[in-house]
Amino acid sequence: MAEINLLRRYPRSKRNIEKRTSAQSAENICIAREYSREYFDGSRDTGYGGYRYDGRWMAIAEDMVAHWGLKPGDRVLDVGCAKGFLVKDLMKVCPGLEVFGVDISEYALMHCEPEVVGRLHLGNCVRMPFPDNSFAAVVAINVVHNLERSHCITAVREIERLAPGRGYIQVDSYRTTEERELFLSWVLTAKTHYDPAGWRQLFWEAGYTGDYYWTIIE
Ligand SMILES: C[S@@+](CC[C@H](N)C(=O)[O-])C[C@H]1O[C@@H](n2cnc3c(N)ncnc32)[C@H](O)[C@@H]1O
Repeated sequence: MAEINLLRRYPRSKRNIEKRTSAQSAENICIAREYSREYFDGSRDTGYGGYRYDGRWMAIAEDMVAHWGLKPGDRVLDVGCAKGFLVKDLMKVCPGLEVFGVDISEYALMHCEPEVVGRLHLGNCVRMPFPDNSFAAVVAINVVHNLERSHCITAVREIERLAPGRGYIQVDSYRTTEERELFLSWVLTAKTHYDPAGWRQLFWEAGYTGDYYWTIIE
């Protein structure tokens, strides 16, 4: 189990914390947690404010292929794949790689990239309908923190079951009181959040042996 930032080449976004805090109502949180149009392609107050493909996952896909030494014919699963941007870019970077996704959002899957049609499964990451050890790698980026703690553990166990020691989980975190406050002023969907030590404890409880990293708002 290693702490490794496979998203180091992901462009950093400038977040307008003040604006989100004022819009961070119980109603907006409720809307965001439906993971429908309002979350992906509605206003910034309820989610992404437009979740569109722009090729930014290519660099991350390259790093993932190199990290696991992935090759044509290997199967990879993206848990919480949304519209399949990473699925598409992994297949571009490594032609012949068999990449699939799982997401709870019917809206995201219905608006997926054309190249990934048929590769994305509608489902909950607490129970994924694939045999044990059936993937060369399983990635879950900014997904499992959206579950309550007990479900979070179940989802992490699922990732481990599908690709023992070959998972990559990225979750929201904070290292200082200031970062925690910033995080709380921004968060819409995360239900479970810890500092890195708290997450490592949860991973240990789940028997997770894959890699991980943090999304920290600075
Ligand atoms: C913050 S988005 C991340 C999307 C993508 N991984 C990325 O980094 O751009 C969270 C995604 O997790 C999905 N999601 C939330 N809860 C889920 C669950 N229980 N099972 C599967 N997917 C879930 C949402 O629909 C959404 O697509």
